[in-house]
Amino acid sequence: MNFADSEIVNSIMVEGGMKPVRTPEEASLIFINTCSIRDNAEQKVWNRLNYFRSLKKQRNGDLIVGVLGCMAERLRERFLEREKLVDMVVGPDAYRDIPHLLSEVEDGRKAVNVILSQEETYADITPVRTTGNGVSAFVSVMRGCDNMCSFCVVPFTRGRERSRPVDSVLDEFKLLSEQGYREVTLLGQNVNSYNHEGRNFAELMYRCSLIDPEMRIRFSTSHPKDFPDEFLHVVRERHNVCNYIHIPIQSGNNEVLERMRRTYTREEYLELIEKMRRTIPGVSLSTDIIAGFCGETEEQHRDTLDIMERVEYDLAYMFAYSERERTLAHRKFRDDVPEEVKKRRLAEIIELQQQVASGLNRQEIGRRHIVLVEGTSKRSEDQLSGRTDTNKMVIFDKETLQRGDYVEVEITDCTSATLKATALRKVSLTETAAESVTA
Ligand code: 5AD
Ligand code: SF4
Repeated sequence: MNFADSEIVNSIMVEGGMKPVRTPEEASLIFINTCSIRDNAEQKVWNRLNYFRSLKKQRNGDLIVGVLGCMAERLRERFLEREKLVDMVVGPDAYRDIPHLLSEVEDGRKAVNVILSQEETYADITPVRTTGNGVSAFVSVMRGCDNMCSFCVVPFTRGRERSRPVDSVLDEFKLLSEQGYREVTLLGQNVNSYNHEGRNFAELMYRCSLIDPEMRIRFSTSHPKDFPDEFLHVVRERHNVCNYIHIPIQSGNNEVLERMRRTYTREEYLELIEKMRRTIPGVSLSTDIIAGFCGETEEQHRDTLDIMERVEYDLAYMFAYSERERTLAHRKFRDDVPEEVKKRRLAEIIELQQQVASGLNRQEIGRRHIVLVEGTSKRSEDQLSGRTDTNKMVIFDKETLQRGDYVEVEITDCTSATLKATALRKVSLTETAAESVTA
Protein backbone atom coordinates (compact mmCIF):
# COMPACT_ATOMS: atom_id res chain seq x y z
CA MET A 1 0.00 0.00 0.00
CA ASN A 2 2.82 2.38 0.86
CA PHE A 3 4.63 1.42 -2.31
CA ALA A 4 1.53 2.46 -4.30
CA ASP A 5 1.16 5.65 -2.26
CA SER A 6 4.78 6.62 -2.90
CA GLU A 7 4.07 6.36 -6.62
CA ILE A 8 1.20 8.83 -6.21
CA VAL A 9 3.51 11.23 -4.36
CA ASN A 10 6.08 10.72 -7.13
CA SER A 11 3.48 11.81 -9.62
CA ILE A 12 2.60 14.93 -7.63
CA MET A 13 6.29 15.86 -7.38
CA VAL A 14 7.05 15.25 -11.06
CA GLU A 15 3.99 17.33 -11.94
CA GLY A 16 5.49 20.08 -9.77
CA GLY A 17 8.68 20.05 -11.85
CA MET A 18 10.89 17.85 -9.63
CA LYS A 19 13.10 15.02 -10.84
CA PRO A 20 13.59 11.74 -9.01
CA VAL A 21 17.18 10.75 -8.11
CA ARG A 22 18.58 7.34 -7.26
CA THR A 23 20.04 7.85 -3.78
CA PRO A 24 19.26 10.04 -0.75
CA GLU A 25 22.77 11.52 -0.98
CA GLU A 26 21.89 13.14 -4.32
CA ALA A 27 18.53 14.51 -3.18
CA SER A 28 17.61 18.02 -2.11
CA LEU A 29 14.27 16.79 -0.79
CA ILE A 30 13.66 13.44 0.87
CA PHE A 31 10.31 11.96 1.80
CA ILE A 32 10.10 8.87 3.91
CA ASN A 33 6.84 6.97 3.65
CA THR A 34 6.10 5.30 6.95
CA CYS A 35 4.19 2.41 8.49
CA SER A 36 2.84 2.21 12.06
CA ILE A 37 1.48 -1.31 12.01
CA ARG A 38 4.05 -2.67 14.48
CA ASP A 39 6.69 -1.08 16.66
CA ASN A 40 9.58 -2.54 14.63
CA ALA A 41 8.25 -0.88 11.45
CA GLU A 42 8.42 2.44 13.29
CA GLN A 43 11.90 1.73 14.66
CA LYS A 44 13.21 1.32 11.12
CA VAL A 45 11.91 4.77 10.29
CA TRP A 46 13.56 6.37 13.34
CA ASN A 47 16.88 4.82 12.32
CA ARG A 48 16.53 6.07 8.80
CA LEU A 49 15.63 9.55 10.02
CA ASN A 50 18.79 9.63 12.13
CA TYR A 51 20.76 8.98 8.98
CA PHE A 52 18.92 11.78 7.17
CA ARG A 53 19.69 14.08 10.12
CA SER A 54 23.40 13.40 9.58
CA LEU A 55 22.98 14.22 5.87
CA LYS A 56 21.22 17.45 6.82
CA LYS A 57 24.14 18.38 9.11
CA GLN A 58 26.70 17.67 6.40
CA ARG A 59 24.84 20.08 4.18
CA ASN A 60 24.39 22.75 6.85
CA GLY A 61 20.65 22.25 6.82
CA ASP A 62 20.31 22.54 3.07
CA LEU A 63 18.09 19.46 2.75
CA ILE A 64 14.35 19.16 3.27
CA VAL A 65 13.12 16.00 4.98
CA GLY A 66 9.44 15.08 5.12
CA VAL A 67 7.61 12.24 6.85
CA LEU A 68 4.63 10.79 5.00
CA GLY A 69 2.03 8.18 5.86
CA CYS A 70 0.83 6.50 9.02
CA MET A 71 3.57 7.65 11.41
CA ALA A 72 3.00 11.23 10.28
CA GLU A 73 -0.63 10.78 11.23
CA ARG A 74 0.12 9.14 14.56
CA LEU A 75 3.14 11.09 15.82
CA ARG A 76 2.95 14.55 14.27
CA GLU A 77 3.86 16.49 17.45
CA ARG A 78 6.75 14.23 18.24
CA PHE A 79 8.27 14.76 14.80
CA LEU A 80 7.96 18.49 14.90
CA GLU A 81 8.69 19.36 18.49
CA ARG A 82 10.56 16.69 20.36
CA GLU A 83 12.75 15.26 17.67
CA LYS A 84 13.24 18.29 15.42
CA LEU A 85 14.19 15.88 12.73
CA VAL A 86 11.87 16.83 9.94
CA ASP A 87 10.52 19.84 8.08
CA MET A 88 7.26 18.37 6.83
CA VAL A 89 4.67 15.97 8.22
CA VAL A 90 2.05 14.74 5.76
CA GLY A 91 -0.70 12.23 6.54
CA PRO A 92 -1.93 9.65 3.99
CA ASP A 93 -4.85 11.77 2.77
CA ALA A 94 -2.93 15.04 2.35
CA TYR A 95 -0.50 14.30 -0.48
CA ARG A 96 -2.17 16.77 -2.85
CA ASP A 97 -1.19 19.49 -0.41
CA ILE A 98 2.55 18.73 -0.67
CA PRO A 99 3.42 21.50 -3.18
CA HIS A 100 1.76 24.07 -0.92
CA LEU A 101 3.43 22.60 2.18
CA LEU A 102 6.78 22.79 0.41
CA SER A 103 6.34 26.48 -0.21
CA GLU A 104 5.72 26.93 3.53
CA VAL A 105 8.96 25.10 4.29
CA GLU A 106 10.80 27.30 1.81
CA ASP A 107 9.43 30.31 3.70
CA GLY A 108 11.09 28.93 6.83
CA ARG A 109 8.05 27.34 8.47
CA LYS A 110 7.45 23.74 9.46
CA ALA A 111 4.58 22.37 7.43
CA VAL A 112 1.96 19.91 8.60
CA ASN A 113 -1.18 18.42 7.12
CA VAL A 114 -2.57 15.29 8.71
CA ILE A 115 -6.24 15.84 7.98
CA LEU A 116 -7.98 12.59 7.13
CA SER A 117 -10.60 12.65 4.43
CA GLN A 118 -13.83 10.74 3.80
CA GLU A 119 -13.43 11.02 0.03
CA GLU A 120 -9.79 11.17 -1.05
CA THR A 121 -8.81 8.22 -3.30
CA TYR A 122 -6.31 10.02 -5.58
CA ALA A 123 -8.43 8.58 -8.39
CA ASP A 124 -7.35 11.17 -10.94
CA ILE A 125 -3.61 10.95 -10.22
CA THR A 126 -1.68 8.59 -12.47
CA PRO A 127 1.08 7.06 -10.38
CA VAL A 128 4.65 7.52 -11.64
CA ARG A 129 6.29 4.12 -11.36
CA THR A 130 10.03 4.58 -11.07
CA THR A 131 11.10 1.79 -8.75
CA GLY A 132 9.17 -1.32 -9.80
CA ASN A 133 10.34 -4.09 -12.13
CA GLY A 134 8.36 -2.76 -15.12
CA VAL A 135 6.26 -5.94 -15.16
CA SER A 136 4.18 -5.88 -11.97
CA ALA A 137 2.26 -2.86 -10.73
CA PHE A 138 0.03 -2.06 -7.77
CA VAL A 139 -3.27 -0.29 -8.24
CA SER A 140 -4.97 1.01 -5.15
CA VAL A 141 -8.78 0.59 -5.38
CA MET A 142 -9.81 1.72 -1.93
CA ARG A 143 -8.37 3.45 1.09
CA GLY A 144 -8.90 3.31 4.83
CA CYS A 145 -10.59 0.64 6.90
CA ASP A 146 -13.79 0.51 8.97
CA ASN A 147 -13.21 -2.88 10.55
CA MET A 148 -11.67 -1.85 13.85
CA CYS A 149 -9.88 -5.09 14.67
CA SER A 150 -8.87 -4.46 18.26
CA PHE A 151 -5.10 -4.82 17.68
CA CYS A 152 -4.86 -2.63 14.59
CA VAL A 153 -3.90 1.01 14.23
CA VAL A 154 -4.85 1.29 10.54
CA PRO A 155 -8.37 2.70 11.06
CA PHE A 156 -6.79 5.50 13.13
CA THR A 157 -3.97 6.32 10.75
CA ARG A 158 -5.69 5.78 7.42
CA GLY A 159 -9.20 6.80 8.30
CA ARG A 160 -12.58 5.74 6.95
CA GLU A 161 -13.06 3.28 4.17
CA ARG A 162 -13.73 4.70 0.69
CA SER A 163 -13.66 3.21 -2.79
CA ARG A 164 -12.26 4.58 -5.98
CA PRO A 165 -14.60 4.90 -9.02
CA VAL A 166 -14.64 1.83 -11.29
CA ASP A 167 -13.81 3.86 -14.39
CA SER A 168 -10.69 5.39 -12.90
CA VAL A 169 -9.39 1.93 -11.98
CA LEU A 170 -10.18 0.64 -15.48
CA ASP A 171 -8.41 3.62 -17.08
CA GLU A 172 -5.28 3.04 -15.02
CA PHE A 173 -5.44 -0.62 -15.91
CA LYS A 174 -5.61 0.18 -19.64
CA LEU A 175 -2.64 2.49 -19.35
CA LEU A 176 -0.59 -0.19 -17.59
CA SER A 177 -1.48 -2.65 -20.32
CA GLU A 178 -0.32 -0.19 -22.99
CA GLN A 179 2.90 0.40 -21.07
CA GLY A 180 3.67 -3.31 -21.20
CA TYR A 181 2.89 -4.27 -17.60
CA ARG A 182 1.91 -7.92 -17.24
CA GLU A 183 0.59 -8.16 -13.70
CA VAL A 184 -1.55 -5.86 -11.59
CA THR A 185 -2.31 -6.29 -7.91
CA LEU A 186 -5.52 -4.53 -6.88
CA LEU A 187 -5.02 -3.17 -3.38
CA GLY A 188 -7.22 -2.31 -0.43
CA GLN A 189 -7.25 -2.96 3.34
CA ASN A 190 -10.31 -5.12 2.72
CA VAL A 191 -11.19 -5.41 -0.95
CA ASN A 192 -14.36 -7.38 -0.06
CA SER A 193 -15.97 -4.16 1.04
CA TYR A 194 -15.13 -2.29 -2.16
CA ASN A 195 -18.29 -0.48 -3.17
CA HIS A 196 -18.54 2.39 -5.56
CA GLU A 197 -22.08 3.47 -6.34
CA GLY A 198 -23.31 -0.08 -5.86
CA ARG A 199 -20.55 -1.76 -7.86
CA ASN A 200 -18.68 -4.40 -5.90
CA PHE A 201 -15.20 -5.85 -6.10
CA ALA A 202 -16.23 -8.97 -8.04
CA GLU A 203 -17.56 -6.72 -10.79
CA LEU A 204 -14.48 -4.49 -10.71
CA MET A 205 -12.13 -7.45 -10.95
CA TYR A 206 -14.19 -9.05 -13.70
CA ARG A 207 -14.15 -5.86 -15.76
CA CYS A 208 -10.40 -5.46 -15.23
CA SER A 209 -9.87 -9.03 -16.39
CA LEU A 210 -11.57 -8.30 -19.73
CA ILE A 211 -9.29 -5.37 -20.57
CA ASP A 212 -6.16 -7.35 -21.35
CA PRO A 213 -6.33 -11.15 -21.38
CA GLU A 214 -2.50 -11.25 -21.16
CA MET A 215 -2.49 -9.25 -17.91
CA ARG A 216 -2.49 -11.23 -14.69
CA ILE A 217 -4.58 -9.88 -11.84
CA ARG A 218 -3.97 -10.37 -8.15
CA PHE A 219 -5.72 -8.76 -5.20
CA SER A 220 -4.91 -8.07 -1.58
CA THR A 221 -6.26 -8.24 1.04
CA SER A 222 -9.53 -9.90 2.07
CA HIS A 223 -11.26 -10.22 5.42
CA PRO A 224 -12.77 -13.66 6.15
CA LYS A 225 -15.96 -12.18 7.65
CA ASP A 226 -17.49 -11.08 4.35
CA PHE A 227 -15.87 -12.98 1.51
CA PRO A 228 -18.50 -13.12 -1.27
CA ASP A 229 -19.11 -16.30 -3.34
CA GLU A 230 -19.36 -14.19 -6.47
CA PHE A 231 -15.74 -13.24 -6.04
CA LEU A 232 -14.67 -16.90 -5.98
CA HIS A 233 -16.51 -17.46 -9.23
CA VAL A 234 -14.64 -14.61 -10.92
CA VAL A 235 -11.34 -16.11 -9.74
CA ARG A 236 -12.36 -19.49 -11.11
CA GLU A 237 -13.84 -18.34 -14.41
CA ARG A 238 -11.31 -15.74 -15.53
CA HIS A 239 -8.07 -17.32 -16.68
CA ASN A 240 -6.05 -14.16 -15.92
CA VAL A 241 -7.26 -13.71 -12.34
CA CYS A 242 -4.71 -15.62 -10.28
CA ASN A 243 -5.74 -18.61 -8.18
CA TYR A 244 -4.26 -17.17 -5.06
CA ILE A 245 -6.08 -15.71 -2.04
CA HIS A 246 -4.61 -13.92 0.93
CA ILE A 247 -7.02 -14.54 3.77
CA PRO A 248 -5.67 -13.47 7.18
CA ILE A 249 -6.75 -15.69 10.09
CA GLN A 250 -4.77 -13.89 12.88
CA SER A 251 -5.54 -16.60 15.46
CA GLY A 252 -7.00 -20.12 15.48
CA ASN A 253 -8.81 -19.70 18.78
CA ASN A 254 -12.37 -18.40 19.11
CA GLU A 255 -11.85 -16.48 22.35
CA VAL A 256 -8.80 -14.73 20.94
CA LEU A 257 -10.66 -13.99 17.70
CA GLU A 258 -13.45 -12.50 19.76
CA ARG A 259 -11.02 -10.29 21.69
CA MET A 260 -9.45 -9.32 18.38
CA ARG A 261 -12.95 -8.29 17.15
CA ARG A 262 -12.47 -10.34 14.00
CA THR A 263 -16.20 -11.29 13.94
CA TYR A 264 -15.75 -14.85 12.66
CA THR A 265 -15.11 -18.14 14.41
CA ARG A 266 -12.51 -20.75 13.60
CA GLU A 267 -15.32 -23.01 12.34
CA GLU A 268 -16.64 -20.33 9.99
CA TYR A 269 -13.13 -19.70 8.75
CA LEU A 270 -12.52 -23.39 8.04
CA GLU A 271 -15.83 -23.57 6.17
CA LEU A 272 -14.77 -20.63 4.04
CA ILE A 273 -11.45 -22.32 3.22
CA GLU A 274 -13.31 -25.49 2.30
CA LYS A 275 -15.58 -23.48 -0.01
CA MET A 276 -12.60 -21.77 -1.62
CA ARG A 277 -10.95 -25.12 -2.32
CA ARG A 278 -14.19 -26.62 -3.65
CA THR A 279 -14.83 -23.68 -5.94
CA ILE A 280 -11.27 -23.18 -7.15
CA PRO A 281 -9.41 -26.49 -7.32
CA GLY A 282 -5.68 -25.96 -6.67
CA VAL A 283 -6.19 -22.48 -5.19
CA SER A 284 -3.23 -21.37 -3.15
CA LEU A 285 -3.76 -19.64 0.18
CA SER A 286 -1.77 -17.31 2.37
CA THR A 287 -2.48 -15.74 5.71
CA ASP A 288 -1.41 -13.37 8.49
CA ILE A 289 -0.92 -14.64 12.04
CA ILE A 290 -0.32 -12.78 15.29
CA ALA A 291 1.45 -14.59 18.14
CA GLY A 292 0.90 -13.62 21.77
CA PHE A 293 -2.14 -11.36 21.59
CA CYS A 294 -3.47 -10.05 24.93
CA GLY A 295 -4.48 -12.90 27.24
CA GLU A 296 -3.44 -15.67 24.82
CA THR A 297 -2.90 -18.91 26.76
CA GLU A 298 -0.66 -21.80 25.74
CA GLU A 299 -3.74 -23.78 24.74
CA GLN A 300 -5.10 -20.93 22.63
CA HIS A 301 -1.71 -20.67 20.93
CA ARG A 302 -1.90 -24.39 20.15
CA ASP A 303 -5.25 -23.77 18.42
CA THR A 304 -3.38 -21.46 16.04
CA LEU A 305 -0.81 -24.19 15.30
CA ASP A 306 -3.67 -26.63 14.84
CA ILE A 307 -5.53 -24.52 12.31
CA MET A 308 -2.29 -23.97 10.38
CA GLU A 309 -1.89 -27.75 10.12
CA ARG A 310 -5.47 -28.11 8.96
CA VAL A 311 -5.40 -25.38 6.33
CA GLU A 312 -1.82 -25.86 5.11
CA TYR A 313 -1.07 -22.35 3.90
CA ASP A 314 1.28 -21.92 0.99
CA LEU A 315 2.58 -18.74 2.55
CA ALA A 316 2.16 -16.92 5.86
CA TYR A 317 3.15 -13.54 7.26
CA MET A 318 3.74 -14.08 10.96
CA PHE A 319 4.15 -11.47 13.68
CA ALA A 320 4.52 -11.09 17.44
CA TYR A 321 1.76 -8.89 18.85
CA SER A 322 2.88 -5.29 19.17
CA GLU A 323 0.66 -3.03 21.24
CA ARG A 324 -0.47 0.14 19.45
CA GLU A 325 -1.78 3.23 21.20
CA ARG A 326 -5.43 4.23 20.66
CA THR A 327 -6.51 0.74 19.60
CA LEU A 328 -9.26 -1.05 21.52
CA ALA A 329 -6.75 -3.66 22.73
CA HIS A 330 -4.61 -0.90 24.19
CA ARG A 331 -7.56 0.67 25.97
CA LYS A 332 -9.27 -2.49 27.12
CA PHE A 333 -6.82 -5.40 27.49
CA ARG A 334 -3.41 -5.92 29.04
CA ASP A 335 -0.47 -6.75 26.79
CA ASP A 336 0.30 -9.55 29.24
CA VAL A 337 2.08 -12.23 27.25
CA PRO A 338 5.77 -11.82 28.16
CA GLU A 339 8.06 -10.86 25.29
CA GLU A 340 10.04 -14.12 25.45
CA VAL A 341 6.82 -16.16 25.35
CA LYS A 342 5.61 -14.20 22.31
CA LYS A 343 8.95 -14.83 20.64
CA ARG A 344 8.88 -18.54 21.38
CA ARG A 345 5.30 -18.90 20.13
CA LEU A 346 6.18 -16.95 17.01
CA ALA A 347 9.20 -19.22 16.44
CA GLU A 348 6.93 -22.29 16.73
CA ILE A 349 4.49 -20.78 14.24
CA ILE A 350 7.29 -19.96 11.79
CA GLU A 351 8.83 -23.42 12.11
CA LEU A 352 5.50 -25.15 11.49
CA GLN A 353 4.84 -22.93 8.48
CA GLN A 354 8.23 -23.80 7.02
CA GLN A 355 7.49 -27.51 7.39
CA VAL A 356 4.07 -27.11 5.78
CA ALA A 357 5.43 -24.98 2.92
CA SER A 358 8.31 -27.42 2.28
CA GLY A 359 5.84 -30.30 2.10
CA LEU A 360 3.57 -28.43 -0.29
CA ASN A 361 6.53 -27.36 -2.42
CA ARG A 362 7.81 -30.95 -2.63
CA GLN A 363 4.45 -31.94 -4.07
CA GLU A 364 5.10 -29.42 -6.85
CA ILE A 365 8.07 -31.39 -8.21
CA GLY A 366 7.20 -32.72 -11.64
CA ARG A 367 4.25 -30.33 -12.09
CA ARG A 368 4.05 -27.71 -14.81
CA HIS A 369 3.23 -24.03 -14.27
CA ILE A 370 3.03 -20.81 -16.22
CA VAL A 371 5.48 -18.32 -14.77
CA LEU A 372 5.64 -14.60 -15.44
CA VAL A 373 9.31 -13.61 -15.66
CA GLU A 374 9.95 -10.71 -13.25
CA GLY A 375 13.73 -10.35 -13.60
CA THR A 376 17.14 -11.80 -12.95
CA SER A 377 17.39 -14.06 -9.93
CA LYS A 378 19.06 -12.54 -6.85
CA ARG A 379 21.54 -15.40 -6.67
CA SER A 380 22.76 -15.66 -10.26
CA GLU A 381 22.91 -13.46 -13.36
CA ASP A 382 22.29 -16.55 -15.51
CA GLN A 383 18.96 -17.31 -13.90
CA LEU A 384 15.56 -15.67 -13.95
CA SER A 385 12.88 -15.52 -11.32
CA GLY A 386 9.14 -15.17 -11.56
CA ARG A 387 5.94 -16.36 -9.96
CA THR A 388 3.35 -18.96 -10.78
CA ASP A 389 -0.34 -18.15 -10.98
CA THR A 390 -0.45 -19.52 -7.41
CA ASN A 391 2.16 -16.95 -6.31
CA LYS A 392 5.10 -19.33 -5.83
CA MET A 393 8.54 -17.97 -6.62
CA VAL A 394 10.33 -20.03 -9.30
CA ILE A 395 13.98 -19.88 -10.45
CA PHE A 396 15.15 -21.21 -13.82
CA ASP A 397 17.89 -20.77 -16.44
CA LYS A 398 17.77 -17.62 -18.49
CA GLU A 399 18.29 -18.99 -21.99
CA THR A 400 16.66 -16.53 -24.41
CA LEU A 401 13.82 -15.55 -22.10
CA GLN A 402 13.12 -12.01 -20.98
CA ARG A 403 11.41 -10.07 -18.25
CA GLY A 404 7.67 -9.89 -18.97
CA ASP A 405 7.55 -13.25 -20.84
CA TYR A 406 5.16 -15.99 -19.80
CA VAL A 407 6.99 -19.29 -19.66
CA GLU A 408 5.80 -22.83 -19.15
CA VAL A 409 8.14 -24.51 -16.66
CA GLU A 410 8.49 -27.93 -15.08
CA ILE A 411 9.36 -27.94 -11.39
CA THR A 412 12.51 -29.95 -10.62
CA ASP A 413 13.45 -29.07 -7.04
CA CYS A 414 12.45 -26.87 -4.08
CA THR A 415 13.13 -25.24 -0.73
CA SER A 416 10.45 -23.99 1.69
CA ALA A 417 10.48 -20.60 -0.07
CA THR A 418 11.36 -21.23 -3.73
CA LEU A 419 10.79 -23.69 -6.56
CA LYS A 420 13.49 -24.55 -9.09
CA ALA A 421 12.44 -25.39 -12.60
CA THR A 422 13.35 -26.10 -16.20
CA ALA A 423 11.87 -23.67 -18.71
CA LEU A 424 9.99 -25.53 -21.45
CA ARG A 425 8.55 -22.90 -23.80
CA LYS A 426 7.43 -19.33 -24.04
CA VAL A 427 3.63 -19.12 -24.05
CA SER A 428 0.73 -16.69 -24.02
CA LEU A 429 -1.78 -16.72 -21.18
CA THR A 430 -4.74 -16.84 -23.54
CA GLU A 431 -3.37 -19.81 -25.45
CA THR A 432 -2.63 -21.83 -22.30
CA ALA A 433 -6.08 -21.01 -20.91
CA ALA A 434 -7.64 -22.32 -24.13
CA GLU A 435 -5.46 -25.47 -23.95
CA SER A 436 -6.50 -26.22 -20.37
CA VAL A 437 -10.18 -25.83 -21.31
CA THR A 438 -9.67 -28.28 -24.19
CA ALA A 439 -7.76 -30.71 -21.97
N1 5AD B 1 0.77 -6.41 16.16
C1 5AD B 1 1.20 -7.41 15.36
N2 5AD B 1 0.73 -7.59 14.12
C2 5AD B 1 -0.20 -6.75 13.66
N3 5AD B 1 -0.86 -6.69 12.48
C3 5AD B 1 -1.70 -5.63 12.51
N4 5AD B 1 -1.61 -5.01 13.69
C4 5AD B 1 -0.69 -5.69 14.43
C5 5AD B 1 -0.18 -5.53 15.74
N5 5AD B 1 -0.60 -4.57 16.54
C6 5AD B 1 -0.68 -7.66 11.43
C7 5AD B 1 -1.97 -8.40 11.13
C8 5AD B 1 -2.40 -7.81 9.81
C9 5AD B 1 -1.08 -7.49 9.17
C10 5AD B 1 -1.13 -6.51 8.06
O1 5AD B 1 -0.30 -6.98 10.23
O2 5AD B 1 -1.67 -9.78 10.99
O3 5AD B 1 -3.18 -8.70 9.03
FE1 SF4 C 1 -6.42 -3.54 10.44
FE2 SF4 C 1 -8.45 -5.26 10.66
FE3 SF4 C 1 -8.61 -3.18 8.95
FE4 SF4 C 1 -6.93 -5.22 8.39
S1 SF4 C 1 -9.19 -5.35 8.53
S2 SF4 C 1 -6.48 -3.01 8.27
S3 SF4 C 1 -6.26 -5.82 10.45
S4 SF4 C 1 -8.51 -3.06 11.19
